[in-house]
Amino acid sequence: MSCKLADTLYDVSALDWEIRDFHGVYTPQGSKYNSFLILDEKITIIDSVKEQYGKEAISKIKEITKGKEVDYLVSLHTEPDHAGSIMEYFKEFKNMKLVCLEKNYEFIKNFLPDLDESKVLVLKSGESLSIGEKTLNFKSLPMTHWPDTTSVYVPEKGWLFTSDFFGSLISLSKPFYDQIGIDIYPFIRDYFAFLMRPFESLTKKALEYYKSLNPTMIFPAHGPFYRRPEDIKYIFDATEKLIEDPTENKVVIVYTTMWHTTERMAKLISEGAGCSDCEVKVYDLREDPVSVIMGEIMTCKAFAIGSPTVYNGVFPNILPLLRLMRLLRLKGKKAVIFGSYGWSGGAVKEIEEAIKPLGVEVIEKIETRFALKQEEVKRCFEAGKMLAEL
Ligand code: FEO
Repeated sequence: MSCKLADTLYDVSALDWEIRDFHGVYTPQGSKYNSFLILDEKITIIDSVKEQYGKEAISKIKEITKGKEVDYLVSLHTEPDHAGSIMEYFKEFKNMKLVCLEKNYEFIKNFLPDLDESKVLVLKSGESLSIGEKTLNFKSLPMTHWPDTTSVYVPEKGWLFTSDFFGSLISLSKPFYDQIGIDIYPFIRDYFAFLMRPFESLTKKALEYYKSLNPTMIFPAHGPFYRRPEDIKYIFDATEKLIEDPTENKVVIVYTTMWHTTERMAKLISEGAGCSDCEVKVYDLREDPVSVIMGEIMTCKAFAIGSPTVYNGVFPNILPLLRLMRLLRLKGKKAVIFGSYGWSGGAVKEIEEAIKPLGVEVIEKIETRFALKQEEVKRCFEAGKMLAEL
């Protein structure tokens, strides 16, 4: 079954309650692959869904179309969560044409080598397609996630389809943001940190373009839709903050540990930071998902990062974070590096070599041998206080 979202517009999305890792992004509440059906002279679908949900989405579509042929399937982006069931849709809707922009088609040809090219209508960015009373205005907005990311705007209705931009990975039965009653920001933040934060100028331009359209409803490819003016303002403002300056009055402490000495240092730093009013978050890399830690580091004012030494370098489970932190545009943030060792140090140096080129200012380094000495206990506590007071 599916919800009517507006006159002639239906939600034919797929809810994925099971997924917990969406290509590296932690999804504690699953994900939703948004797909839309527009009834007009030409019956049009916007995006398919992940392959395993194709049949389910098709049955939703057929319930609404009541046997009428589907004319167009618009593809906004060629990753399997949106393009994965295109061939299944072609089996069901024999006269359907796939509609996409040139860049998208370059990817689709490789993703679906068996697709008959006579079934594809390729448009240029800026071109429009009339589907009857409504028009679909296509625009390429590269790197508002992927090089092929496309938006469609329906000017007669003010409907804006933005692919993954404005998306959040969460599976919700209620379609609209004003119905869900939860704080969606951490979901928007973590998705943005992982996929869009590196592309400052392109995301900024896209946001300006979307604002200039003054849409009445926004439909991203994941998560809830936005329809009230205050909700549209909310998603615009949240995205602007994530592009420009997402800093909050927050200190993040992230660590990994072998024999709990580095963990003890993390606790002392957190206790020092806890003496002030700022928020303090602590993450253990043995347990906590890297995508959440990325979102937290992107939005903190300062952070502490620690690892014990193994073979003159960091403990291996910190390496994905050190690599992914390059995406976050951390220039100007301040950090404390800490760690412990037995026969030789090296972890603190390796972390410093990873984060200094990102423009992070290292304000304190603490490396202890075997057990913490009284002086080091004090230094950890004071380092936490210093971070919180910045
Ligand atoms: Fe790149 Fe939602 O896909």
